[in-house]
Amino acid sequence: MRTTHTGKYNIQIGEDISGELNKLISVEKYSSIFILVDQNTKRHCLKKLSIDDHQLTVIQIKSGEKNKNIRTCEKIWNELSRKNADRRSLLINLGGGVITDIGGFAASCYKRGIDFINVPTTLLAQVDASVGGKTGIDLAGFKNQIGAFAFPKAVFINPDFLKTLNKREMLSGFAEVAKHGLIADKNYWNAIRNTKEIITPHLSDLLLSSIEIKNKIVSADPYENGLRKTLNFGHTIGHAIESASLKTKKPLLHGEAIAIGMICEAYISRKCCGLSGEELNEITSFITSRFHPKAIKYPAKKLIALMRQDKKNTNSEINFTLLSSIGKAEVNHTCTEELIEEAISYFNDSISLD
Ligand SMILES: NC(=O)c1ccc[n+]([C@@H]2O[C@H](COP(=O)([O-])OP(=O)(O)OC[C@H]3O[C@@H](n4cnc5c(N)ncnc54)[C@H](O)[C@@H]3O)[C@@H](O)[C@H]2O)c1
Repeated sequence: MRTTHTGKYNIQIGEDISGELNKLISVEKYSSIFILVDQNTKRHCLKKLSIDDHQLTVIQIKSGEKNKNIRTCEKIWNELSRKNADRRSLLINLGGGVITDIGGFAASCYKRGIDFINVPTTLLAQVDASVGGKTGIDLAGFKNQIGAFAFPKAVFINPDFLKTLNKREMLSGFAEVAKHGLIADKNYWNAIRNTKEIITPHLSDLLLSSIEIKNKIVSADPYENGLRKTLNFGHTIGHAIESASLKTKKPLLHGEAIAIGMICEAYISRKCCGLSGEELNEITSFITSRFHPKAIKYPAKKLIALMRQDKKNTNSEINFTLLSSIGKAEVNHTCTEELIEEAISYFNDSISLD
């Protein structure tokens, strides 16, 4: 097992997470234990976790972003209440980012807060969503509109869970891995670019580096006053695209939308933040060749209206994290609506060239 400290909790990475989880549970002497799963993590992951406790209750919700909402939260709260969960109860979130986001949020509100532990089972949740204490749900089509900073008691990561994850989901997680290189570490970015088999689960070293980058940033700035905003690179436009796509019959996955957002925001970085033309080309060609994104069909005005709801904005200006070079991010940039439209056109043109 490898342990990374955050200052608030430990992240343990390795094959024997059940042993470590049981140790923590026996020290804490919880009154009852609940495990939050969706149908896929119940099927593929629950059996890989063995917990020495007879009062274990499984709470199952439906998978998918469209269920990351208040109705699902209410279901979780009702189940906890029906089974008499008290303030010494524990909720274990076993699943992807939807489970860790909603489970963390539900736990942080239930009886004004009970302990929760994240056991992430997707690449995206292992390298990103489970670490850092951002929890929340979507509201009226806006991503993560309701939420709280709430820190898990611990995070247990077993790369073995990724064996049952499909290629599309693996690739979605890889967008956040690539982002970590782009915002914080040029050598890491180069290692990612040179990884041929990006969708196999044999990526332990890359995973560890990614978790460490995210952890270093969120430990230095847990409540997103400055440095943590660097993690939002690609997310201002990416979240708007994701939100728009959620209303369609074929919604994009989170990482797929962020991959597109990173190309658009790299273009804005070229115009406003000193990113070189070569670096813009490098980012664009890497993302288009690995992610094969489709053109953005939503009207730019609609996307800009969605960007105006972004939590990072102040004084009604749309806030961007941009790159001054690969490996170096700058926070709190703004730009004109015309430039955002230009960035979307740049992305659509790069797709047709691919
Ligand atoms: N809190 C944060 O800091 C943060 C950061 C990034 C993303 N997020 C959020 O994370 C969410 C996306 O997370 P995600 O991509 O993990 O999506 P997800 O939770 O929807 O999981 C993707 C799919 O994989 C299935 N699945 C999970 N583990 C599996 C396994 N081991 N084998 C087979 N199938 C499995 C799930 O049931 C689901 O169908 C978004 O809501 C996003 O906003 C949060």
